[in-house]
Amino acid sequence: MQLPSHGSNPQHLYKALEINPPEELVDFSVNINPLGAPEAVKHNWGKWLEAIYDYPDPTFAELKQTIAAKEGIEESCLLPGNGASELITLIARYLQGKKVLIIHPAFSEYEAACRSENCTIFHHVLYPPEWELDETSLERKLGLVDAVFFCHPNNPTGIQYDRPTVEWLIDTCQKKEVLLILDEAFYDFADRPVTFIDKASQSPFLLVLRSLTKMYSIAGLRLGYLAGTPEVLSQIHKRQAHWSINAIALKAGKTCLDDRQHVLLTRDYIKRERDRLFAYFREIGFQHSPSAINFYLIRDPSSRNQQELFSFLLRKGLVLRHTYNFPGIEGEWLRVAIKKEAENSLLMEVLSEWKREN
Ligand SMILES: Cc1ncc(COP(=O)(O)O)c(C=O)c1O
Repeated sequence: MQLPSHGSNPQHLYKALEINPPEELVDFSVNINPLGAPEAVKHNWGKWLEAIYDYPDPTFAELKQTIAAKEGIEESCLLPGNGASELITLIARYLQGKKVLIIHPAFSEYEAACRSENCTIFHHVLYPPEWELDETSLERKLGLVDAVFFCHPNNPTGIQYDRPTVEWLIDTCQKKEVLLILDEAFYDFADRPVTFIDKASQSPFLLVLRSLTKMYSIAGLRLGYLAGTPEVLSQIHKRQAHWSINAIALKAGKTCLDDRQHVLLTRDYIKRERDRLFAYFREIGFQHSPSAINFYLIRDPSSRNQQELFSFLLRKGLVLRHTYNFPGIEGEWLRVAIKKEAENSLLMEVLSEWKREN
């Protein structure tokens, strides 16, 4: 049985598991802001039509200016891309044939992109319930490779490690001359965000990756950016298609980044709902990962097999993300996005029903 390797598009999951999808589905498998896109994106949508008649600016100048001002870094230290995914593909091209370490569990595209560029893949797996870094063993592995991917905050656990832990990794990579790709796709959902973007412009051994598709709910539009030194970024940029970002995404990106209120409202909302959900899980005896962001892992420790819970929820129209393709987790947990209040309440109700029946 081949399950889809990503969340979203639940029809493929139902087909693979041969379960008839109920009429109404709630998709908890995709980690997108439940508050939706900023109002200004919806408001300006019609006005942006005229942008499609011409080629977009291939230097992404206006968007770069906006990001540089927001992050307080030089424009030359930024490379926008068609979603963080495009930038992962370009980084993999840049690393062609090299030795690459992946700290797991992690977004599966690091490995897929690096494999397609004939990189040799090494693994460093973190284990539940704390998913600690294990610095001694990690340091030894860093001596063997050219680059390392670390997803922080982590997908799928949602864990945000403390600053000294990530600083240790940055410093060790610098000393060992290993390129660290720090994926901060979800950093802005934390109520106390931890970011290292300011360090990326200072070291040829650090790249910080960001996505706009999650916080601003524009996954269909595609937008992300990379921060690093101008020298490393120009090597990566060489591998990017001309006009890689479409004209509407360029306009929407600027509008999104200008909307600070949207981020603050989202953080408040996510924290409130996360606290409510975690209190409920404690009450019914479910385990959850110590997530600081907009998704988390859960498992029912009284059930030997989370697959049964997964299928039970699918039959009720609640689509969670399986974890079979996350090394170290392999189906033992389920990943859940924080959605709208009523949808989170529905999940709690259906989990209570599961508990009554099992
Ligand atoms: C950790 C992580 N990084 C990057 C991406 C890619 O994001 P984008 O939609 O910007 O391509 C994802 C998408 O799910 C992700 O989970």
